[in-house]
Amino acid sequence: MERMKNLAYYNGRITSIEDMMIPANDRGFYFGDGIYEVAMVFNHKIFALEDHLDRMANSAALVRIELPAAKEEIGHLLEELALKVESPCQFLYWQITRASSPRNHLFPEGVASNLYVYSKPWKGVEMSDEYRLMTVEDTRFLHCNIKTLNLLPNVMAAQKAKEAGCSEAVFVRDGYVTEGSHSNISMIKDGVFVTHPLDHLILPGTERNHMIRYCAELGILVEERAFTVEELAEADEIIVSSTSHPSMRAMELDGKAVGMKNPELVKKLRDKYMEEIEK
Ligand code: PDD
Repeated sequence: MERMKNLAYYNGRITSIEDMMIPANDRGFYFGDGIYEVAMVFNHKIFALEDHLDRMANSAALVRIELPAAKEEIGHLLEELALKVESPCQFLYWQITRASSPRNHLFPEGVASNLYVYSKPWKGVEMSDEYRLMTVEDTRFLHCNIKTLNLLPNVMAAQKAKEAGCSEAVFVRDGYVTEGSHSNISMIKDGVFVTHPLDHLILPGTERNHMIRYCAELGILVEERAFTVEELAEADEIIVSSTSHPSMRAMELDGKAVGMKNPELVKKLRDKYMEEIEK
């Protein structure tokens, strides 16, 4: 099989990412009217595919987008696409938009949803012990559990953090930490893993979920509860997690030194992750 350097797929058409053209009437373009997923590919296999397909189906249902094919079929297609890219390690993105139709707020009738996928080479597992965080007011809407394409507040927060020399923005709502601009924020305090509960204020992160499972396997207590910025500043460890950056350890929050006090526990969680991807 002739493999590609990178790949884009749109409703059955396959090109390189650079050559893909999307119709302007795709409602993702007008309204951000769609949902998306990101998964890692290791050795040409999609890591935690079921978790991503379940969340995709859930996000789509919450905004009343009908999937263009059964969840399992989309999974098979993604697996096939990941085989077509040269690099065994890939960053795989896909989005489903409601339809293509002339601009109108109302849902168009009788038009199928669009599936766009791309996959590009990825350098491998990204971990860091040097994350700098900056708090930013969480002014997002109250449906953060939906992985929607509408990410403008996240984009603004991420850029603000970067311009301040930071690696990630930490959203704070009413004094409580919700999540990062493109990650979940968890902390370790006195040997307990603490992370925001699953509700409408955060995205149900796959890595957040995996870490909770690793904790159960390791006999580490987990508390799913909201915590304040002050608590975060006092944490033994702060872990920033996402699919592409599964375990980023923060050493600074708003210019002050934080965390870095329980490296053993962080290592145990990281070892679990590495074991799992090797499987
Ligand atoms: N972002 N919260 C937000 C707002 C996110 O955008 C992400 C992921 C997460 C972590 O979810 P997961 O562990 O399933 O990756 C939490 C992806 C990677 C992105 O938008 O690129």
